[in-house]
Amino acid sequence: MTYPVKEIPTKPFTDQKPGTSGLRKRVKVFQQEHYTENFIQAIFDSIDAKGQTLVIGGDGRYYSPETVQIVLKIGSANGVARFIVGKDSILSTPAASNVIRKYKAYGGILLTASHNPGGPDNDFGIKYNVSNGGPAPESVTNKMFEASKNISKYFIIEQPEVNLSRIGEFTYGPSKVSIIDSVTDYTTLLEGIFDFPLIKSFLTSHTHDFRVLFDGLHGVTGPYAESILVDKLGLSKASIQNCKPLPDFGGGHPDPNLTYAHSLVEVVESKGIEFGAASDGDGDRNMIYGKGAFVTPSDSVAIIADWADVIPYFKKGGVKGLARSMPTSKAIDLVAQKKGFEYFEVPTGWKFFGNLMDAGRLSICGEESFGTGSDHIREKDGLWAVIAWLNILAAANEDSPNKLLGINDVLQRHYIIYGRSFFSRYDYEEVSSEGASAMVDHLNQALSSGSLNDTTHKSSSTSESFTISGLYDFAYTDPIDGSVSKNQGQVITFSDGSRVVFRLSGTGSSGATVRMYVERYVANDAGDAELGKSAADGLKGLIEVALEVSQLKKFLKVEEPTVIT
Ligand code: G6P
Ligand code: ZN
Repeated sequence: MTYPVKEIPTKPFTDQKPGTSGLRKRVKVFQQEHYTENFIQAIFDSIDAKGQTLVIGGDGRYYSPETVQIVLKIGSANGVARFIVGKDSILSTPAASNVIRKYKAYGGILLTASHNPGGPDNDFGIKYNVSNGGPAPESVTNKMFEASKNISKYFIIEQPEVNLSRIGEFTYGPSKVSIIDSVTDYTTLLEGIFDFPLIKSFLTSHTHDFRVLFDGLHGVTGPYAESILVDKLGLSKASIQNCKPLPDFGGGHPDPNLTYAHSLVEVVESKGIEFGAASDGDGDRNMIYGKGAFVTPSDSVAIIADWADVIPYFKKGGVKGLARSMPTSKAIDLVAQKKGFEYFEVPTGWKFFGNLMDAGRLSICGEESFGTGSDHIREKDGLWAVIAWLNILAAANEDSPNKLLGINDVLQRHYIIYGRSFFSRYDYEEVSSEGASAMVDHLNQALSSGSLNDTTHKSSSTSESFTISGLYDFAYTDPIDGSVSKNQGQVITFSDGSRVVFRLSGTGSSGATVRMYVERYVANDAGDAELGKSAADGLKGLIEVALEVSQLKKFLKVEEPTVIT
């Protein structure tokens, strides 16, 4: 029996090009008549989901429940056999990746704009993930854009709205809908990766006082953190804050960095908490921050890689390889070299790690943009990184009965073995697109003419000198499928091994955002004073030189960055 399907005539919108992580726009844009429906139909026009299982979830932001109903109606009309939906439309990005893999779904539609603010006047997003649990590659998202430009109708079935709060299996027109608990599968996953008994005994020991504070920033991770940190690892509820997901994230900017996660930073500092952590709106980013100790994401992934053998998942399966995105500091490369692991440098964007993982050549990877993860799923994973750090600290303290080791001790130990890569990122948000491209042109000109090569630049405040050894535009050839990604950022290298990268953000929803990444390596014998500097002090001279060489302030017409991480 065929089920009646309705055809709704529509006209294309010209702006439905998915960016680095799906289609992100203001809520008001998605609320235009047919806008969301068109894009959902464009997704189904670009994949072959007939008779398949599709996962639906997201960070619970404003306009999510409405969009789930639209996906069900259009998806069912396009032949999807079964939908697996997170209760109340919630599945963190890592949890969704896991659900897609665990239940062997064809793909998933994630309703999220990650760390962008939510609510009626802020952002919404729709992202498609493929069957390996990772973000759709550009070949697929380009098809969606093409389909969206040529659309003339979409298909729906008529069905009453599904109650998204009721767990169970339901018949929905010609399809089935399973509403699942958003948290259970994910908790089971992490329990199988980390040494929960060791972490629990460390966290609940009465011989020392090691306090933990996790801040969900009112994003999606709250219920996951409660299940893992409180129910499984025995911490009190005082160890978690802002853990109720809210559609507008409580009016905040749910991005775990020193600027936006001030709710965490303030409490950690005022109460002297040993271990603090936060995650973003959809749960894939993380920040590790204890009293007086900030772990840069570049160091974080290097340290997790260095300590991998205390984590049962890697102890058992081994470490197949390591990787980082291009602007991320080279700290992880040093770990790979010492331990003899293969390692990779990929463009910014988690999707570039997926092929390497599927080919069995990559286990642990990270990005400077507060993303850390492994091949347990195909997205970065905020809580995974937090629990990895707790696992490392629990293991480090097993060998240190008389002194409680904290984040700073682990950092210093790392610098003494490997040296330190000072790293910082300056963001210039919502600047004019013309100014940004003028700066890119200026660098490209220096690149082609070689005019900056071998020039020496002196910082006026620190008197350090930096000599430019090269300038290139980063391009990547995927070693697995041979696909080429060009124009991934302009890199200036210096004769002392320092590096400055300029890149345009691919995730903003209006204007242009320029990012400047600065890295300077100091060898392990530089002495405690040098190795222990703040990143701002360690990088002062190089930052001055980077700003001078790029003429950034002149082109962007701004004095200061909006965010420094
Ligand atoms: C998303 C991706 C990350 C990537 C980041 C880059 O968060 O999931 O993998 O690092 O975007 O953002 P940007 O704004 O720098 O393009
Ligand atoms: Zn995110």
